[in-house]
Amino acid sequence: MLPLSLFGLLLLLPYSYGLNFPFSLPFASKHRAQVPIEAPAPFVKSPHKVAIIGAGAGGSSAAYWLARAQNRTPEHELEVEIFEKEGYIGGRSTVVFPYSSEEYRPIELGASIFVKANRNLWRAAQEFNLSFAEYDGEDGEFAIWDGSEFRFRMTNGSFSWWDTARLLWRYGINAPRRSQALVDEIVKEYMRLYNPLTPDWTDVSDISAFLNFSNFTSGTTAAYLKSQGIDEKYIVEMVESMTRVNYGQNVDGIHALEGMVSQAANGAASVAGGNYQLFEQFVLRSKAKIHLNTTVKSLSQSNKKWTLKTSDGSTKTFDSVILAAPFHSTGISITPALPSRIPKQPYVHLHVTLLSTPYHQPNPTYFNLKEGSSAPQIVLTTNDGFIRGGPAPEFNSMTYHGRAGGTGEAKDENVVKIFSADKIEDEWLEKTFGTVGWVYRKEWDAYPVLPPTEAFPPVMPTESLYYVNSFEPFISTMETETISSLNTVRLLLQNVFGVNSTICEVPESEEAEEILKGWDC
Ligand SMILES: Cc1cc2nc3c(=O)[nH]c(=O)nc-3n(C[C@H](O)[C@H](O)[C@H](O)COP(=O)(O)OP(=O)(O)OC[C@H]3O[C@@H](n4cnc5c(N)ncnc54)[C@H](O)[C@@H]3O)c2cc1C
Ligand SMILES: *[C@@H]1O[C@H](CO)[C@@H](O)[C@H](O)[C@H]1NC(C)=O
Ligand SMILES: *[C@@H]1O[C@H](CO)[C@@H](O)[C@H](O)[C@H]1NC(C)=O
Ligand SMILES: *[C@@H]1O[C@H](CO)[C@@H](O)[C@H](O)[C@H]1NC(C)=O
Ligand SMILES: *[C@@H]1O[C@H](CO)[C@@H](O)[C@H](O)[C@H]1NC(C)=O
Ligand SMILES: *[C@@H]1O[C@H](CO)[C@@H](O)[C@H](O)[C@H]1NC(C)=O
Ligand SMILES: *[C@@H]1O[C@H](CO)[C@@H](O)[C@H](O)[C@H]1NC(C)=O
Repeated sequence: MLPLSLFGLLLLLPYSYGLNFPFSLPFASKHRAQVPIEAPAPFVKSPHKVAIIGAGAGGSSAAYWLARAQNRTPEHELEVEIFEKEGYIGGRSTVVFPYSSEEYRPIELGASIFVKANRNLWRAAQEFNLSFAEYDGEDGEFAIWDGSEFRFRMTNGSFSWWDTARLLWRYGINAPRRSQALVDEIVKEYMRLYNPLTPDWTDVSDISAFLNFSNFTSGTTAAYLKSQGIDEKYIVEMVESMTRVNYGQNVDGIHALEGMVSQAANGAASVAGGNYQLFEQFVLRSKAKIHLNTTVKSLSQSNKKWTLKTSDGSTKTFDSVILAAPFHSTGISITPALPSRIPKQPYVHLHVTLLSTPYHQPNPTYFNLKEGSSAPQIVLTTNDGFIRGGPAPEFNSMTYHGRAGGTGEAKDENVVKIFSADKIEDEWLEKTFGTVGWVYRKEWDAYPVLPPTEAFPPVMPTESLYYVNSFEPFISTMETETISSLNTVRLLLQNVFGVNSTICEVPESEEAEEILKGWDC
């Protein structure tokens, strides 16, 4: 890793050298920038074949980035095939319909929101003419539940002066404001990921250091916020409610970068009809060949080629492989053994329970409130009650998402989403919601367990194998998977064709902020 001052110098270099960052490209061939390459001949003559494993945010966007690069430099011929175990595109981003009927509004079963700072998804929605949904349903009273009582309740509907007063009463003026300022600082650094002058990385800790994030990933959210003088009550209630709904983890466990990312909710949006459409469009527009319902079983490398075996028994050969799924969940065996082992990465096993109910709020008695009183519709949780010897909350979050909608008979029923560590039984649902109509359960390996860390999985576990999900233990979101996939695509193009600017002709440095890497250059 280069010292930051050296990076500063490199950033000032004219564009033809703008991407020559020595640390990032161990396999790149020596070459003068901007000069089209004639040799080595084999690459130019037959298309370079790329296999992408997984058609979630990471894999679908990898195909799209490759296609955009191909458009810019048609002489670098690529042939791309995507292999996806499931029968749909989107991976952890997918929808289901109440009562399994398309008469109703689709409900996000996995990733539901992204924010305006997520420039790739934002741009994609615009380029693909997809419209944004109203902020996914959640309106109503907000509260933080500790397993036996509410720590905090905010009246109802939009944020009023009364809510502000309550917030200040409980947490003081300093904590919310200071915490938000810290989030803003981090988002500002994060935005550098879109700058074409930001170097590519073969080790996630390099880009972490470049963004000044190493301190955040190496400590817990609670320790970091405490060190910044944030009131402890705010940390274990407000901040923890967000780390639990977003990542199923507590502030004393999750690293500070993800803890802060959990609080970055400015301009939250989702795509009307389902976020998966972004990923479908990536694939469609890439014109890559996609094999759905096709599980990759093994990869073996010899003579600089990869042989890929799939569940239907067929075998295909590729020059490069982009692995865009959490490796240890894929069941893929790789031979010969990887020189750079992919460490086992535990994931949070999350139960998502969707249901519909005629009632507009949960049963107040569940929350030890008087029968007939009002109960909140957005219930987030803290583990602090449990730490103090009380019962643990039985769920991470419980949120009302508006009506089932559409034209079906049950269109006026309210849709509720529950995230929990354990299965939520039918009796519990009856008790908590009174009458329950539709129920849908899904278990996900949702996101990595994210303790403080200094090391990340390899981006290139071996030559011509690229690992998109190496980024997940750093930040795990749909957007960051598209950022990671762009990085792997850039490395691939550099390694194969030897041209650093293949997908990004870097402009003069002042303009670079306007230019969106991967899209505009
Ligand atoms: C309930 C939930 C809520 C979330 N909320 C948000 C949110 O609001 N905002 C947000 O940004 N993120 C959210 N996330 C996280 C987000 O979903 C992920 O970070 C992101 O979608 C990961 O994308 P990916 O392409 O890396 O992986 P995946 O989406 O998991 O894609 C990997 C794909 O690979 C396929 N695959 C696996 N093994 C094989 C094999 N052997 N052969 C072929 N194919 C294989 C899988 O079927 C899958 O489709 C949430 C996740 C969950 C589960
Ligand atoms: C790309 O960057 C690497 C690392 O700095 C360098 O070794 C290589 O020569 C560069 N290639 C081109 C075409 O500029
Ligand atoms: C994938 O498999 C499912 C379930 O067997 C099937 O319904 C679907 O049609 C298949 N899709 C494709 C594209 O083969
Ligand atoms: C988006 O819609 C506009 C107007 O309806 C149309 O001109 C444009 O071609 C569409 N873009 C894409 C990428 O489909
Ligand atoms: C919330 O406020 C609206 C009007 O502002 C009111 O109709 C509704 O009954 C309130 N809900 C609760 C649970 O207090
Ligand atoms: C990184 O953090 C250090 C220490 O706070 C600071 O001095 C430096 O300016 C930061 N660098 C960038 C690029 O923000
Ligand atoms: C990172 O941590 C070190 C050691 O604790 C500290 O000196 C430095 O100021 C921190 N940097 C940032 C950006 O917080």
